Amino acid sequence: MFISFEGIDGSGKSTQLSLLRDVLEAKGHSVITIREPGATLLSESIREILLSNKQTITSTAELLLFSSARTQLVEMIIEPALRDGKYILCDRYVDSTTAYQGYGRQLNMEHVELCNKIATRGVMPHVTFFIDVAYEQAQQRMQFTPGSAEPDRMERSGREFFERVREGYLAIAKSDPQRFVVIDGHRNREEIHADIVAYL
Ligand SMILES: Nc1ncnc2c1ncn2[C@@H]1O[C@H](COP(=O)(O)OP(=O)(O)OP(=O)(O)O)[C@@H](O)[C@H]1O
Ligand SMILES: [Mg+2]
Repeated sequence: MFISFEGIDGSGKSTQLSLLRDVLEAKGHSVITIREPGATLLSESIREILLSNKQTITSTAELLLFSSARTQLVEMIIEPALRDGKYILCDRYVDSTTAYQGYGRQLNMEHVELCNKIATRGVMPHVTFFIDVAYEQAQQRMQFTPGSAEPDRMERSGREFFERVREGYLAIAKSDPQRFVVIDGHRNREEIHADIVAYL
C-alpha cells in the first residue's frame, strides 16, 4: 500500500509520517519510508541542487529536476516495494509538483500534468493525507524546530507563493476526493494522528 503525505513546508508531514510508521511496524507490517525529492542516490543529489541557495533555478528547470528525482524513485524503489506488498510512506509525491510548480510557480498546468504523468509512470498513492495548515502556523512551527537551519531555496518563496500552493492542494482535494484526504492540521500531533489512523 502506497501512502503519501502532503502540505506546505512546516505543516507537520514528517511528524505524521513517523507516527504512522511506528503504528504500522508495531502491527508487524514491513514499512518503507521515503522523502521526496530523495531516497535514491541520484534523487538525493538532485535534492541538494533544488534546495541549495547557491544558484538561480528557473521554474521550468525546477519542474524537470523534481520530475527526474521522482521517476528515479518510482522505478528503483516504489515499484519494487509495491510488488513485494510493502507499505510505502512517502513524504511528498506528485501532488507537491501540481501544488508548488503548477499553482505556486504558475507554470503551464498541461506541462505540469504531462511531467507528472511521465515521472510517476502511472504509479499513484492509494491514499494521500494533506495536512492543511495556514501559512503563519507552518512558519511558526518551522521556527520552533530544534536545530532548524536557514530556510532552504523553496522555503524562501514567501507568503503569496505558499497561499497559492495551499489553494492548489485544496483544488486537488476537490478534483480527486477518493484519494486525497484533507486533514485539519491546526491541532496537536495526537489528534491529527488519530484522524489518520481512523481513516486508514
Ligand atoms: N500538530 C502539531 N502541532 C504543533 N507542532 C507540530 C505539529 N506537528 C508538527 N509540529 C512541529 O512543527 C515542526 C514542523 O513539523 P514537520 O517537520 O513534521 O513538518 P514538515 O511538514 O515535515 O516540514 P518540512 O516541509 O519543512 O519538511 C516540527 O518542529 C514539529 O515537531
Ligand atoms: Mg518534513
